[in-house]
Amino acid sequence: MEIAFILSLEHSTLPLAEIKSALVAENMEFTIRQVENGLILIEISDHQFSDLPKLVRRLSFTHEVFRVLLKTDSMHWEDVAENFPWKTIVKENYAVRVKKIDSKLDITSLNLEKGLGGIIKRITGLPVNLNSPKTFIRTLVSGDKILFGPRISSISKNHFFELKPHKRPFFYPGSMHPKLARVMVNLTRVRQGESLLDPFCGTGGILIEAGIIGAKVIGSDFDPKMVAGTKENLTHCGINEFEVFRADVRKLKFSEPVDAVATDPPYGISASTGGEKSQDLYQQSLISMERILKEDGRMCMATPHYLDIDQVLMGTKFDVREQHYIRMHKSLTRVISLLKLN
Ligand SMILES: C[S@@+](CC[C@H](N)C(=O)[O-])C[C@H]1O[C@@H](n2cnc3c(N)ncnc32)[C@H](O)[C@@H]1O
Repeated sequence: MEIAFILSLEHSTLPLAEIKSALVAENMEFTIRQVENGLILIEISDHQFSDLPKLVRRLSFTHEVFRVLLKTDSMHWEDVAENFPWKTIVKENYAVRVKKIDSKLDITSLNLEKGLGGIIKRITGLPVNLNSPKTFIRTLVSGDKILFGPRISSISKNHFFELKPHKRPFFYPGSMHPKLARVMVNLTRVRQGESLLDPFCGTGGILIEAGIIGAKVIGSDFDPKMVAGTKENLTHCGINEFEVFRADVRKLKFSEPVDAVATDPPYGISASTGGEKSQDLYQQSLISMERILKEDGRMCMATPHYLDIDQVLMGTKFDVREQHYIRMHKSLTRVISLLKLN
């Protein structure tokens, strides 16, 4: 079956990268059918349909997911909709909602909503419920195509808003936005029950997101204030099982390897580097991670654009597998690198 992901347009590469990583983390087999501005179509097998809500709950750069039942165009949509067995999909009440992405069609959303809603009503005899419909039929107008299908899930923006760093009990400048933290966690492909380490945990932004998707969280920071603050923030977010302690990343040791690492080392601007040159600290922390990350584990690291990451990686056993650039403001672009041991 074909599944449509309606993407956040905030970033050009992260939404697709996040979806691919989350699909792998959730053990789903998939084929990417189409990638367009704001829309990705993916084929999965029918038996995996019930796994989708769990997958969607992880995502931060997707707005909504629906199952594609019909694909048509402005000339044929009425015939196609008239001939569809709506009774198999709509069983109680329903709503039809239209979204347009890069639409080249001049059909209005209102006309489509009313038209399709009327056809479903005639065929099923069931009532419309705009407030809390049992079946929400997403109608997407993308380019010159119209896609219809029942919505599987939409991603609540509340979570990323309510957990913004300044709304947590412990705040410190340089805290990472939860959306970015979530996408970094997803890029590591960490699975529920697996461990994720942030050795520069700061206020715990990355660990909160890892904890929410069910990873075992491990955090360390050389500043005791940050250690206490991370614990407070994790507890505030309902994450009660964690290992957070004071340590210098360069001296970290574990008896067992961790499954994933996601981290945002200090830039030497707002976050303290403890007097160490950023470049050296980054390199030494990667050498430390070589001992700690499991062989096929992934590490996701945020760095500022002015740090020469190739130079940092030289002399370590890490390779870059993916890179994404996020422009924060005029003088800072964050580089999100996905690293693997070679
Ligand atoms: C950019 S902040 C991390 C922010 C974090 N992602 C958040 O959302 O709050 C970097 C952190 O690295 C810590 N740090 C700096 N040098 C360190 C070292 N050598 N070992 C461990 N932690 C260190 C700082 O205390 C700071 O809390």
